[in-house]
Amino acid sequence: MTTNLTAMQSGSGLPAPATLPAEQLQALYDIAQVLNTISDIDSLLERIMDIAIQTVTAERGFLVLTDPSNEKEISVRTARNIAPEAALSKEEISRSIVLGAIESQQGVLTIDAQTDPRFAGAESVIFNQIHAVMSVPFILRGRIVGAIYLDSRNRREGFTNESLTFLKAFSNLCAIAIDNARLMGNLRDENYQLRTEVQRTYQFKEIIGNSKKMQDIFDLLTKIINSDISVMLEGESGTGKELVARALHYNGARRDKPFIAQFCGNLSETLLESELFGHKRGAFTGAVSDKKGLIEIADGGSFFLDEVADIPPSVQAKLLRVLQDGEFRRVGDTEVRKVDVRIISATNKPLAKEVESGNFREDLYYRLNVISIRMPSLRERDGDLPLLVQHFLAKHSKDVEGKQRRILPEAMKIIERYHWPGNVRELENAIERAIVLAGDRDITPDELIIPRVSKPMTGAKSLKDHEREFVLKTLEDYSGNKTKTASALGVSLRWLHYKLAEWKGPEA
Ligand SMILES: Nc1ncnc2c1ncn2[C@@H]1O[C@H](COP(=O)(O)OP(=O)(O)O)[C@@H](O)[C@H]1O
Ligand SMILES: [Mg+2]
Repeated sequence: MTTNLTAMQSGSGLPAPATLPAEQLQALYDIAQVLNTISDIDSLLERIMDIAIQTVTAERGFLVLTDPSNEKEISVRTARNIAPEAALSKEEISRSIVLGAIESQQGVLTIDAQTDPRFAGAESVIFNQIHAVMSVPFILRGRIVGAIYLDSRNRREGFTNESLTFLKAFSNLCAIAIDNARLMGNLRDENYQLRTEVQRTYQFKEIIGNSKKMQDIFDLLTKIINSDISVMLEGESGTGKELVARALHYNGARRDKPFIAQFCGNLSETLLESELFGHKRGAFTGAVSDKKGLIEIADGGSFFLDEVADIPPSVQAKLLRVLQDGEFRRVGDTEVRKVDVRIISATNKPLAKEVESGNFREDLYYRLNVISIRMPSLRERDGDLPLLVQHFLAKHSKDVEGKQRRILPEAMKIIERYHWPGNVRELENAIERAIVLAGDRDITPDELIIPRVSKPMTGAKSLKDHEREFVLKTLEDYSGNKTKTASALGVSLRWLHYKLAEWKGPEA
């Protein structure tokens, strides 16, 4: 009887056969190519499994990875023709073989398990008629990353010493690729977070406002800060909806978990769906590898859905499931995954109207809208303008060298007269630009590039009166500079001279 249990020490022990068959060398070459192009860990493991099974013609197999923070903790990540839950169960011989390979840091090969005294009486060997067994650990810089297990019941196509040599070379490549993919995965997750969380220390003090409307909002935010209740923010663009969403997250119980924002307007259904929920490789053209969805990445944290009114129906249905059961599936996948996120949403269209017209699901609307906060436009926020101007002067003076910039009263007058359709965002942009244009000087009307549209004027006046008042005000804003006034009004200098002459009367 021959006993063919061979153990090969990495880098020492038995000399490896000098050459590998051409097809195995080719396989190694192919693998190296493939492994370098996959950065998603799940798809990488699938590929590793397929290539290994094919090249050594194994029947069953599975892959385990160690927990990066605890090498002793291993879990099955993918399997072929063997149930992942069974692979490491006590009854299966595969368990002791894989654990043996990991513990000894050696590859293990058994050419005939049926006659191998090591497995005598092992029920799973007999029951599964296992013939040849092979397992090799993935080792990188002395650390165990995981291991591969393969077996076969076919007596004619069993494993050989060459198979083991091949699998060892293969495993070295796998260890590097797995390490890379893990690193890329971490970077990708971090990157998503960085993209949306410019500042980790959001507090209400970042939200400027003394007006009654803003004080009411602060009161409400304080009440809901530590609950998981869904919050809907309604308001015009630039009123601070996203700022409030971040403040809710970074002041609340979930502050140490991710805050992820997704803009939902003008996105194709497929793109939005795969961004939010991820996809399985091959789910659609271009889905070259498995991808985690942002909802998954936000697990434990908060998810900000910006412009919810634009979400297409199929995505609405998936979101409802997340809100109701905390469940979702990646696009093209059958596996149901669990997730725990607080949903904060925003819209600048009245969502109730979208529900009425049938564009937005009513059930989802009520789930999202447990608490709704209406962000007032800047025009409604009495007294907040000077505060905001000072806030942005201080904030953006820091970006450029030199002293804290001030704003001259004439410039402030222009700001107060304008109606700010773009709200706080537009104001902030105007101040930031003015600081740059002013250099190290204080800000005058010259640096304020805002459309010269006055607040609507009251009282019955003729169109001619309005025209005159408007032109003269603009002239005043530009300290009598006619060239600048004409270009701000979008008229020719000649037209302006003509009008001024007309209003002054013939004697001028
Ligand atoms: N009350 C506020 N205090 C300070 N900055 C604000 C305030 N409201 C809005 N901003 C700033 O204005 C810009 C636009 O706000 P954002 O939250 O993106 O608006 P929205 O999401 O409603 O379009 C951001 O730079 C934000 O920091
Ligand atoms: Mg926004």
